Amino acid sequence: MTSVRATRVNGSSNSARFVARIHEPGGVIDDLIQRLRDAKSVFVLTGSGISAESGLPTFRGVGGLWRTHRVSELASPEGFARDPVLVWTWYNERRAAHGSAQPSVAHRALAQIEPLFDDFTLATQNVDSLHLRAGSRNVLELHGNLREARCSVCEERRSLEGGMPLEEIEHACGGRFRPQIVWFGESLPQTEWRFAAQAASRADVKLVIGTSGIVQPAASLATGYGAGWVAEINPEETAISNLVDASIRAGASDVLGRVAERLYGGSLSGGRPLSSS
Ligand code: OAD
Repeated sequence: MTSVRATRVNGSSNSARFVARIHEPGGVIDDLIQRLRDAKSVFVLTGSGISAESGLPTFRGVGGLWRTHRVSELASPEGFARDPVLVWTWYNERRAAHGSAQPSVAHRALAQIEPLFDDFTLATQNVDSLHLRAGSRNVLELHGNLREARCSVCEERRSLEGGMPLEEIEHACGGRFRPQIVWFGESLPQTEWRFAAQAASRADVKLVIGTSGIVQPAASLATGYGAGWVAEINPEETAISNLVDASIRAGASDVLGRVAERLYGGSLSGGRPLSSS
């Protein structure tokens, strides 16, 4: 399997086959909901944009992590070998931010609609655990998570509750504890990748939410597997906009909140509307 890399699928400004803004008439939400009602199998790919509404930064947008931090220092095996304390200090801060954040309407909407389908798979590039905390069940964490550390030599794992104590990075076996996440140049976890590729291949409907679509191989799940109808939900054009069937240019919570409400006939969780509070 190919290792994680950032790549532009295309450099053009071609638009999606169908671009819609949520507030424009034209029935894009109606179309999406009808396709979901008809779908037997749904695949969702999410990126950091879905957690932006939980207050967490994305990677490449304004205020994005890779605008102010060096990928090679913080998200590569070489960077970790050079300065493990720097790397852990950064991931400890990120982990703390994840812990303070709350799942957004979009995270919760995906968890709400999952039981409506016999076959529903959510693959995420995010390491913030917000899908799990929102109640999603069939979640594939393609880039790992920040709940655990693992020894780079003997693979022993330890929980990251409270963060990684910097004085305990060195492991007794001679290895070092590292974050249980995938860095650039490394391969995705094999099981998660296989299940994600299979789910993407059999899906009737694919939703691609809050990702720039430039990190491979994750982005290829959106457009490279199967023949399902693909909609991206993203306020901005992305590297894969011209490969999807519909681009809904709006925030994830705005769209998914409506979708969940409509799929439940206007009432959710015993009549409580899905709100951002
Ligand atoms: P990016 O920062 O590349 O893209 C975030 C996307 O979210 C952008 O396309 C935004 O337009 C979109 N976005 C922002 N706010 C949104 C909202 N409210 N609703 C929907 N979309 C919104 O982040 P990712 O695509 O997640 O990998 O990046 C992929 C991978 O690159 C990450 O998993 C990470 C990073 O380097 C590793 O660390 C291996």
